[in-house]
Amino acid sequence: MQKLKEAILSRGKALDGGVLLVDAFLNHQVDVQLLREAGERFAAHFSAKPFSRVVTIESSGIVPAAFTALAMGLPLVIFKKQTSRILTGELLQTRVRSFTKGIDYQLTVKRDFIAPGDCLLFIDDFLASGEAAFGAIELARMAGASVDGVGIVIEKSFQPGRARLEQAGLDVLSLARIRSMSAQGIEFAD
Ligand code: G4P
Repeated sequence: MQKLKEAILSRGKALDGGVLLVDAFLNHQVDVQLLREAGERFAAHFSAKPFSRVVTIESSGIVPAAFTALAMGLPLVIFKKQTSRILTGELLQTRVRSFTKGIDYQLTVKRDFIAPGDCLLFIDDFLASGEAAFGAIELARMAGASVDGVGIVIEKSFQPGRARLEQAGLDVLSLARIRSMSAQGIEFAD
């Protein structure tokens, strides 16, 4: 998606350790027009399959996932990273390791919000090693549902996430694929 690549080049910043700062348009200040277009791209690509829900992980996946759900006319379910006293009922949980942030969290969803047989479209802001996506796949499995498509705003193609998801047989659409990045510049894979 050309506009997204331009935003990455003009408003993003490559930090040490293979991390791309995108707080000017994606996860702090939010360019909603750009992300609405991202949602429409995902909807166009995935509309041939009979998805029943869009799912994402709080927090930065929510905006692109919401625009995708809106464009596809589907409900959106947000997987939580933290439980709370008011999150009651039967919960499905799986542990996810975030390598970028160096933390573990319990990915959580109420069983009521994923139905057995659901065909889920997982949308997220970044794909790095794929741990978040595999956490979502595991929660779907626990609910008797399946993740049948993955839409990613920014893929770091120099990390193993895409290869792992493709090996698992998933259709992965990334709107920008970064082959390499450093203080000298950012190169796209396509
Ligand atoms: P993985 O899911 O593909 O394995 O990725 P990893 O665990 O390494 O990273 C997950 C978290 O780190 C996600 O945020 C993701 O958005 C963020 N992340 C990964 N790479 C980058 C990057 O290059 N730049 C930025 N800005 N973020 C990155 P999260 O923990 O789910 O938090 P939130 O920001 O969504 O609340």
